Amino acid sequence: MLISGVAMDIECLFDASYVRVLSREIEGQAFFAAFYERFLAASPEVSEKFHQTDMARQRAMLKKAFYRLLSFYVSSHADYYLKEVAVSHSRAHLDIAPALYDLWLETLIDTVRVYDEQFDDEIELAWRLVMTPGIVFMTFHYDRGDGRDS
Ligand code: HEM
Repeated sequence: MLISGVAMDIECLFDASYVRVLSREIEGQAFFAAFYERFLAASPEVSEKFHQTDMARQRAMLKKAFYRLLSFYVSSHADYYLKEVAVSHSRAHLDIAPALYDLWLETLIDTVRVYDEQFDDEIELAWRLVMTPGIVFMTFHYDRGDGRDS
């Protein structure tokens, strides 16, 4: 009971923070635009990966994927979609090395810190906890990404 109560708290904290960051613009810039601007600037490896990408489309895709990450956190059940995304990011395809996910998460947290005016330690922990199972799932498939494994 205690455990599920804590889990509910985390989900609620994340949800409310996510609603706040999505509803906010800073100097005309929305949350996902700010995230990608920072992420691309964070490392030449990242900007190289996205050099041919339509970033408006990419922002819309990540927005959609966030709900999948949240449901993965809640259910621990990876759906077909998340598996596809993991395979697409594996060594044999987009080749997104596990270290890039650390940068991804730190950049995400830095962006939330700016966009959520109620940001505090609890909210930071909620974001980290909700994102982590999805990141583990993705990096687990880095070297197994041929789609033939489980
Ligand atoms: C949990 C973390 C992440 C999620 C949920 C995520 C999600 C997605 C989704 C949904 C797509 C589009 C569909 C697909 O290609 O499968 C995509 C494409 C892509 N992602 Fe990620 N991603 C994550 C982390 C990363 C990281 C760390 C990088 C490092 C640079 C990255 C680089 C890319 C690239 C290069 C594409 C292809 C863009 C194109 O089509 O030109 N992603 N990602």
